[in-house]
Amino acid sequence: MIDISNKLESFDSEFHFEIGSGAFEFLWNQADHNKRNYYVGTEIQSSFFNKKQLQQTERLKNVDIFNIDGLWLIKKLSDNCINTLHIYYPSPFRSTIYEWKDVLNFESIRLYKSKMKLNGQLRIVTDNSKCYYKALKNILRLNLWVTNWTHMYGIDSNKLVGTKCEEKYQNETNKQYSLMAVKI
Ligand SMILES: C[S@@+](CC[C@H](N)C(=O)[O-])C[C@H]1O[C@@H](n2cnc3c(N)ncnc32)[C@H](O)[C@@H]1O
Repeated sequence: MIDISNKLESFDSEFHFEIGSGAFEFLWNQADHNKRNYYVGTEIQSSFFNKKQLQQTERLKNVDIFNIDGLWLIKKLSDNCINTLHIYYPSPFRSTIYEWKDVLNFESIRLYKSKMKLNGQLRIVTDNSKCYYKALKNILRLNLWVTNWTHMYGIDSNKLVGTKCEEKYQNETNKQYSLMAVKI
């Protein structure tokens, strides 16, 4: 049984939610640098849930990681509760291991909007231009306000999110698309 509502109430600052956390390095980095915020990460592939990942999460009291479909979990949250929603390198065409759910389609973005607080942020990074334009189109259709990417505390100044995928795809393609939108 997943119950994050009690934990949410015990943090007096921001609630961050990530869909597709991979090896969780972004989440841990942010949780480590922002101890008053609460971070929830979701990863659909169980191979990422090894002993080391779980120990690291136990060390940080302000982070929970779930081996689950992030779209499923976000639906369980109350409306208007997320300060920042993170989706980095969603790579819809790459995996042959899991059934890909489209985290950037109109329905998904509409769902995110309903779960975001007023002035809450949606942050997306991808190396795939089709993903970028699809997300942008849906964000604009839903009247989220597109704004400049702002640097996050704890991330190297020459990086966007500092994940393994960022490093890998930076080397492969160079082009990284970052998208930040605010619920107004
Ligand atoms: C290319 S990886 C990116 C991982 C990490 N964000 C990074 O930047 O390194 C995309 C990840 O999203 C996960 N994923 C895909 N759909 C998901 C969903 N509906 N819920 C949770 N995780 C999902 C995949 O299993 C995969 O590990």
